[in-house]
Amino acid sequence: MIHQLVVEAPAKVNLTLDVKGKRDDGYHELETVMHQINLVDRLTITAIPEGIAISSDCADLPAGEMNLAYKAAQTILEEYPDRGGVSIHIEKNIPLGAGLAGGSTDAAAVLKGINALYKLNLSLPQLMTMGAKIGSDVPFCLQGGTALARGRGEILEPLSSHWQLHLLLVKPKFSVSTAEVYRRFDMGKVSNRPDTRAFLEGWHRCDMIGISRAMENVLETVTAALYQEIDEIKKRLIKLGALKALMSGSGPTVFGLFLDRAGAEQAWQAIQPCEEEIFLVTSYDGRKS
Ligand code: C5P
Repeated sequence: MIHQLVVEAPAKVNLTLDVKGKRDDGYHELETVMHQINLVDRLTITAIPEGIAISSDCADLPAGEMNLAYKAAQTILEEYPDRGGVSIHIEKNIPLGAGLAGGSTDAAAVLKGINALYKLNLSLPQLMTMGAKIGSDVPFCLQGGTALARGRGEILEPLSSHWQLHLLLVKPKFSVSTAEVYRRFDMGKVSNRPDTRAFLEGWHRCDMIGISRAMENVLETVTAALYQEIDEIKKRLIKLGALKALMSGSGPTVFGLFLDRAGAEQAWQAIQPCEEEIFLVTSYDGRKS
């Protein structure tokens, strides 16, 4: 039996994000295109006789139940009390509270990792059902690639990953709480919605200009109103040649979409960070991992 394995956990960006309404269960009904990028955490998962132990190279990451990786291990191991426990070491590269699904992707990696380590033979749909209990983005992180997500974010329609996007990410020094952003969301304040249908048409045609014109994120109405840095970063990225600059998820990370690798690299070299973290990324290709 294997005792240890390493699982990659890629971040995501939302290429479009529309809120369709508020649901009776308190969540918001979404229509969003999610896309994995090659900014990855690495989780080393080791079988131990019992219990769940989390460690990380990132001091700010909670080690207990507040950590989604812990919650994921607890959720899956609860179903198999006759198996052992796990120790999980997280090499954290995805910034926390950034709108990049850093916590959700770690949770997805833990579910996949424990499934393999303890030979539980759970199917992807079974893992995704389990993942939805942990967080709305976890099913997407399990499925990977690019997808149109509806419902809370757990109803997924995969989109073909037939091309590579070149993005420059700017993560301001502050973080935001997703729950707080949704709590403050007011449909009446939305003027720019994504054109999801036009986005999908552009996506299938590999039309970079077409998708860039259709991209919007309605949660910017909350986060950009709270922090002027969001609009400032968007303007800087456009000046540096981005076709489109958009906030990811509930923010505060903003990404610029560039026509090609050369354009993104030029912007990366020219950008002057103001206490921000900058990442030059492309679409995640799991086959290379
Ligand atoms: O599902 P998750 O725990 O990641 O969501 C964090 C918070 O974001 C939820 O507690 C909820 O307040 C908000 N949320 C929402 N609608 C969604 C997803 C998240 O209101 N579709």
